[in-house]
Amino acid sequence: MIYKNLSFEKPSNRPFFYSSFVATADGKVWVGKPGYWPIGSKTDFETFTYLRAHADAIIDGKGTAMQFGKNTIETVHSDSFKAIRKSLGKVGEIRYFVVTKHPDEALEKRLANPFNFSPEIFQGDINELVQQLKNEQLDYVFVDGGPHLLTSFLDHNLLDELFITIAPRIFGNDGSAMTMVEGLLLDPKKVQMQLLSVEKAGNEVFLRYRLG
Ligand SMILES: NC(=O)c1ccc[n+]([C@@H]2O[C@H](COP(=O)([O-])OP(=O)(O)OC[C@H]3O[C@@H](n4cnc5c(N)ncnc54)[C@H](OP(=O)(O)O)[C@@H]3O)[C@@H](O)[C@H]2O)c1
Repeated sequence: MIYKNLSFEKPSNRPFFYSSFVATADGKVWVGKPGYWPIGSKTDFETFTYLRAHADAIIDGKGTAMQFGKNTIETVHSDSFKAIRKSLGKVGEIRYFVVTKHPDEALEKRLANPFNFSPEIFQGDINELVQQLKNEQLDYVFVDGGPHLLTSFLDHNLLDELFITIAPRIFGNDGSAMTMVEGLLLDPKKVQMQLLSVEKAGNEVFLRYRLG
């Protein structure tokens, strides 16, 4: 298992925010065409699941929720996910927030599930979301994606750690591919990153960065 005995340093004034993305060698995390997903291996998916299991809450932007919200809900209700959480001493059900200024029926339909589980649709801005998470003592929060939501967290200096898997693939771009951060050109001085660890498994590289 990559990232065994993981621990995080929570800031004193807000929750700890962390994220994980799998990217190709040419930096693509998503292509809106069939045949380009999954990007990573089974090991990457297990690592992603293990990272998520450390969280008190998961946050998606609407784009990711529309694509994978159903899978997320299934994962967090699976026996294997619950077993990982138990082994980590995490009590209670994980919370799942979806951020959108335009909630609609399509999203609601997409998130319908047989578990009697209600994803929480959040319509405010990112600072209001941070305040709500803080008020509810959700201390460890996984920013699941996608690129537009991650951009907001980086732009507001809110991301504490970023895990990246580099998969041995190259997709190129015809305008349908996204990188990890989309929608805003960040000031190159804004995001400071410190490499905490590098692990290799099969043909993939697992990078862990601290931000700020
Ligand atoms: N490779 C990976 O590891 C990885 C990880 C995650 C996601 N992905 C892929 O990325 C794709 C989606 O990317 P995306 O960038 O379009 O999706 P996204 O960031 O999940 O969703 C974008 C939408 O979320 C809402 N949103 C995001 N930030 C917001 C903010 N600060 N305040 C209010 N609303 C906000 C907006 O919805 P409204 O317009 O409705 O307000 C925005 O249009 C998915 O299909 C997914 O598979 C890949």
